[in-house]
Order: sequence, then C-alpha cells, then structure tokens
Amino acid sequence: MNVAPKIVFLSGSLSGNSTTGGIADWCAGHCVQYRAVTRVFRGADLEFPFYRRGAAADHGPEVHDYLQAMEQADAVVLVSPAYHGAVSGLLKNAIDYVNDLAEATRPLLDGRAIGCVAVARGEQGAASTLGMLRTIGHALRGWPTPLGVALSNEQALVDGAGTPVTERTRVQLQVMLGQVVSHSLISARRRAARTPAGTRK
Ligand SMILES: Cc1cc2nc3c(=O)[nH]c(=O)nc-3n(C[C@H](O)[C@H](O)[C@H](O)COP(=O)(O)O)c2cc1C
Repeated sequence: MNVAPKIVFLSGSLSGNSTTGGIADWCAGHCVQYRAVTRVFRGADLEFPFYRRGAAADHGPEVHDYLQAMEQADAVVLVSPAYHGAVSGLLKNAIDYVNDLAEATRPLLDGRAIGCVAVARGEQGAASTLGMLRTIGHALRGWPTPLGVALSNEQALVDGAGTPVTERTRVQLQVMLGQVVSHSLISARRRAARTPAGTRK
C-alpha cells in the first residue's frame, strides 16, 4: 500500500526572521520529494494560553486545528531554539496540549517518528535542548529518530530563504528527515488500513 505520510513540523520561536522557523520550513520543503503531506506550525501559530488539563471545552479553533493535525500526524518534527539551555516555553506549552490526546485511538504521539532539531548560539545549549526534545518525544510514546540535530554557531545560520548555510547542516537535516519519513510510512500504512476505502486522502 503506497500512502503519503502526514508530517507536522513545530517551530518554537516568535522571533522575526526566526532561524528555527526557517529551518522548519526548509525541512518541510525537503520532505515534499517523498510525497509527504506537510504542515508547519510556526511560533505565531502556537501562541496558545498556558495548558490546563481538563479545559478542552475552552480551546479555541486554533487549538482544535493543531490537535487534529497532531492526532493525524504520522511523524512530528520539533524544532526548538535553546532558551537558557532548554526547549522554549512556547514549544513546550504547545507540546503539553498533546496531553489532550491521551485517550485517542493512538494516545499522545504513540508510535510516531519524532525528528528533533535544536538551534542555539553555543554547543552546550544545542546539546541540552536536543536531549530534552528527545526525552519529550519518548514521554509522548514517540520514536525519536536515531539522528537528532544540534545546531550552533555557523551551523545554526540560515539564509533569507531559511536554507541552512552550511553543507554539514543540510546533510544532517536530510539524514534525520530520511529517518523520519522511513518510520512514518509504518504509521501511514496503519492509518490507511483503518480508513474506510473510498475516503482515503
Ligand atoms: C531568551 C533566550 C535565551 C537563550 N538562551 C540560550 C542558551 O542558553 N544557549 C544558547 O546557546 N543560546 C541561547 N539563546 C540563543 C538562541 O538559542 C539562538 O539565537 C536561536 O538561534 C534563536 O532562534 P530563533 O532565531 O528562531 O529565535 C537564547 C536566546 C534567547 C532569546
């Protein structure tokens, strides 16, 4: 069964000309060659109130839209800036909302590939943030890919179009995304098998 995987990209920065936003867009663009159906949530798309358990009735349409995309995703790629050695609060808050999928047919991010990219000024912030992203991915029952990408110094630079300026960064992202797409096909095939024939997209 040949099914297009659905991949959601989250970027955790509200900066103008955000590096993480540029990288998330670039990663999504790269996955199109694999026939992936991509959706990017940049920082401004994730400006939700602080997560409160049991407040689903209060969620606005943007939260519903986000949670629906996360529930249907075959893979998720998390791109976070290092803020004081950690994942940005904006991204963490958006991830906390995934708790509302705890009772879904596939709870949380069960079985999904999780690609992780940390963007920082220095190596230490990049490394600690990447470790946290991977830990969060596990906690959501996802499968962080073997390669996570920690970017710092010139490796964290992108041009005006969001393309990483160094060859090393582009190759690292491509390898990680290849792993994301490979694993996402397992989820995509299962999803298609559950979907009644004639309603597949
Ligand atoms: C509040 C704040 C805290 C930061 N803390 C760190 C840090 O601990 N380590 C680090 O290497 N860079 C740190 N940085 C730098 C950012 O990680 C870096 O500039 C990143 O590229 C920002 O991504 P953006 O352009 O998408 O906003 C910090 C930046 C901000 C605004």
